[in-house]
Amino acid sequence: MQAAARQVLPATVYDYFMGTTEEGLTHTRNTSAFQQWSLIPKRLQGVQHPSTSVKVFGQEYSIPFGAAPVGMQQLFHSDGEYATTQACAYQGAPCILSTVSNIAYAKATKDAKIKPWFQLYPTDNFEVTKALVQKAEEAGAEVIVLTVDVPVLGKRKHNARGLLNTPEFAHLRFGNLDGLLQQRDNIHDSCLNWDQLAMLQEISSAKIVVKGILHPEDALQCLNMNIEGIIISNHGGRQMESNYSSIEALAAIKPQMPDEFPLFIDGGIRSATDVLKALLLGAKMVFLGRPICYGLAVGGMAGVMHLLELIKTDLTRNMQLMGIQDIGNRDPTQIIKTK
Ligand SMILES: Cc1cc2nc3c(=O)[nH]c(=O)nc-3n(C[C@H](O)[C@H](O)[C@H](O)COP(=O)(O)O)c2cc1C
Repeated sequence: MQAAARQVLPATVYDYFMGTTEEGLTHTRNTSAFQQWSLIPKRLQGVQHPSTSVKVFGQEYSIPFGAAPVGMQQLFHSDGEYATTQACAYQGAPCILSTVSNIAYAKATKDAKIKPWFQLYPTDNFEVTKALVQKAEEAGAEVIVLTVDVPVLGKRKHNARGLLNTPEFAHLRFGNLDGLLQQRDNIHDSCLNWDQLAMLQEISSAKIVVKGILHPEDALQCLNMNIEGIIISNHGGRQMESNYSSIEALAAIKPQMPDEFPLFIDGGIRSATDVLKALLLGAKMVFLGRPICYGLAVGGMAGVMHLLELIKTDLTRNMQLMGIQDIGNRDPTQIIKTK
């Protein structure tokens, strides 16, 4: 799908979404770190119809993987975030929509039977943050995902502003920000701190999930503040060079947290065995960033559905090979660090 996306997209768009910060060491590590863990099948388990469904925050999902927030999805397909939302809802997959979506949350989700989570970039103006949260909640968002790993934008070779200045994409809007911010305003807040997280908790009636955690102390701080969940992430290696990989961070954080606390992860997940490894290491669900862009580019809603279907088929087969009946019921003895 990646190869197919490369064929259909302008090189500028492909380079933008595949891009990383600096030399891409964090992104490379995100994918390669999965190889450190090996899976140990249990035999004779008689798994005829494995169950891939999980329940999170009261919502039943048919598969434990879905779409990470990716901004500006109309760069990949004219249906943009609408297509991703619909594809995930049809597949019973979790979905997170970005603050910097081209299509506003309400419009992108109007037909969706499962409401996506809303990813929030807090600006340096709390009134704008409040308005973003309010609009998303009014449109049915029950989970707000606060991204905390972009106090400033990472050093990237291919940035979105360059693309938006080309005639081909000059018409694209930031739907959620319409009427709140000017197209070119800064949407990041370098002063973001724990107090602002507490302020967000006060103004929001949604569940709050914090995205971009890598340090166990930060995970514990979220727990202590009654945050409902965290997404362990380094922004797909787009923010900082030489970061801890997401999967290694998950393995470090999990033992320090109560077992029932929802940990999610994204970064470098490219196959069903990656999904399985993350779940066996303690993630409740996992999210895909760039692969969703591949699906979208190749076939809009059908492309994203197909991408999810491919991984689901592989996951089901791998569960049978592993002797796992229920994906929500992990046996940590089935994964081992081998190098
Ligand atoms: C093109 C692109 C745009 C992204 N936009 C956002 C965004 O608006 N908000 C956010 O929290 N993360 C954003 N991310 C990061 C993803 O949510 C996710 O953390 C990352 O892509 C996961 O890594 P993967 O691409 O290896 O799966 C973006 C990633 C990409 C590739």
